[in-house]
Amino acid sequence: MMKKNILFVLTMLAAAVGSAGASENVSGYEPSEQVRQSQKEFAADRFGIFIHWGIYSMFAQGEWYLNSGIREDEYCKAARGFYPADFDADEWVKAIKGSGARYITFTTRHHDGFSMFKTAENDYNIVDGTPFKRDVLKELSDACAKEDVKLHLYYSHLDWKRTDYPRGRTGRHNGRDSLNYNWDTYYKFMNNQLTELLTNYGPIRAIWFDGYWDHDEDSVPFNWQLEEQYRMIHTLQPSCMVANNHHENVIEGEDIQIFERDVPGENTAGYSSQDIASLPKETCQTMNGMWGYKVKDTNYKDTPTLVRLLVKCAGMGANLLLNVGPQPNGELPRQSLDRLKEMGEWLSVYGETIYGTDGGDIQSQPWGTTTRKGDKLYVHLLSSDIRDLHLPLDCKVKKAVTFDGKEDVKFSRHNEKGVVLHLPAIPDVPDYIIELTTK
Ligand code: GLC
Repeated sequence: MMKKNILFVLTMLAAAVGSAGASENVSGYEPSEQVRQSQKEFAADRFGIFIHWGIYSMFAQGEWYLNSGIREDEYCKAARGFYPADFDADEWVKAIKGSGARYITFTTRHHDGFSMFKTAENDYNIVDGTPFKRDVLKELSDACAKEDVKLHLYYSHLDWKRTDYPRGRTGRHNGRDSLNYNWDTYYKFMNNQLTELLTNYGPIRAIWFDGYWDHDEDSVPFNWQLEEQYRMIHTLQPSCMVANNHHENVIEGEDIQIFERDVPGENTAGYSSQDIASLPKETCQTMNGMWGYKVKDTNYKDTPTLVRLLVKCAGMGANLLLNVGPQPNGELPRQSLDRLKEMGEWLSVYGETIYGTDGGDIQSQPWGTTTRKGDKLYVHLLSSDIRDLHLPLDCKVKKAVTFDGKEDVKFSRHNEKGVVLHLPAIPDVPDYIIELTTK
């Protein structure tokens, strides 16, 4: 036992030394013209749907189930029983499009190591490892293309199954042999899979990495060799953006900045202490409390809460990536479908104040936030007990009307700097919007 431990420490040390010193930075990375175009379209979309789906949905306890002290060689047996009989990619995409979301981020391979697409790298995938035998990613990408919904792919950097993945701080108690890891074969495996993903499924607008934080407690910085990997992605699909949910400051070569479970500028969940970069931003959030399907968790956020979250993100110039965890039978949970529909109803009326806007002149206030498009500044009132509202603006206000009904709203100038809006009684709605025309 002792010997084994010493051997383990030595091998880890050797790996650490081997990977030390190399910089993660791609020096002087400049996004290409195609990436810039994707960034523009992405930022205008403002709303996307995250899908966490894998064989973990069968255990119905979230996507981290394999980290809960069970054995990997037992867990993986679920694959042979995975038959999502009611999966219909067209129905998913229609429901998602109906929510007003304009893109989908799909988990192609999560931390459990199971691939939700046909891969030549191993049989532990939806086509070769389950009786279902259908490439759900192919069906999803076809459905997205039909409905003009953009596709982003989640890809886990960490793996709780493969023995060549150099084990980090998670997935330590599942019986996997972690002494004979081999970064070179693992890195090659990832890049081969990424190549498949970027070759076989049409245009992919972003690769969304996760799991980097698995090595954030290493005594020597772990070298993920991101520079080469990011370059490969940009070469395979020149308009594909790179995002990484590492919870740290943006690394060169990345085209989107991610915030997990928090609006940029807030850090209630503890993952968002990074500096806010000048890249397009995205906040991902769950609809209930978990990403993967969890049968016990029916504590869904209500639609007004989700609308306000979307508005707060837009006010900060960020997209909302709202998660849905499909059931093991392949359907989206009823509670999620209801919320998607209601979000869509709200956006069909108020989308003008969200899509294609920039973060507003005044952001993240106790009363709400603002978004801007050209000479229009939308004041989003997220609380109903406001009467006189001082807006310290650098521009002149020419006109103020309610967004609903376009009725005039009285305002007075305030000490050269901005205006005071004299608000009408605000009805009990998720977001009451005043439209200012500015100069
Ligand atoms: C965290 C979780 C992971 C989830 C991701 C989504 O990284 O570990 O399970 O997929 O957040 O943002």
